[in-house]
Amino acid sequence: MPERLKAAALVSGGGTNLEALLRSTECGDVPGVKFALVISSREDAYALKRARDHGVPTVVVDPKRFASDTEFQEAVLFELVNARIDIVCLAGYLRRIGPAILGRFRGRMLNIHPALLPKFGGPGMWGRRVHEAVLASGEVESGCTVHLVDEEYDHGPILAQARVPVLPGDTAETLAARVLEQEHGLYPRVLRQLSERILKGESLP
Ligand code: GRF
Repeated sequence: MPERLKAAALVSGGGTNLEALLRSTECGDVPGVKFALVISSREDAYALKRARDHGVPTVVVDPKRFASDTEFQEAVLFELVNARIDIVCLAGYLRRIGPAILGRFRGRMLNIHPALLPKFGGPGMWGRRVHEAVLASGEVESGCTVHLVDEEYDHGPILAQARVPVLPGDTAETLAARVLEQEHGLYPRVLRQLSERILKGESLP
């Protein structure tokens, strides 16, 4: 086992979680991980600029350029294997992970979701829709969840959560901002814990 795991992030959007992860590995908070690749499903994702600014190689694998989802998934897997990636973080990635990728990375692939799963997750539950659903349901708290990835959206084993209050007068935007601040602390902490377990050779769910 290497001393440092090679990590990839899969992104589709702005990449503030990617930024938090990159900073945490650069400053020594996550000593067992080095980001070696960022894969974006969209070529206009701002996350790509963030990766380049940190000197991390990037590649765009756009599902629209493939005849089938299977071929798209194979192309993503090719990039991960080609870069000898050990661990993967989904960071605002808007595609389901298929069986080919899971076959290689199950137990080594994390996702962060901006709600307290198992509530408010699943297909279509992303962006402001999550926070609108939390507000509409009258919940008094929300938060974020880091979980291992499986075949279903927002579904695999939960590793950690952080909670925030829902405050009177909250909008989807104010709640999202409160949750996002927690995401940026939680995700690096869980990456550190998972990397330590992998480097010790522990078997994972
Ligand atoms: C975050 O809220 C994350 O929980 C969800 O997608 C959003 C990505 O935001 N999976 P960013 O691209 O990291 O800023």
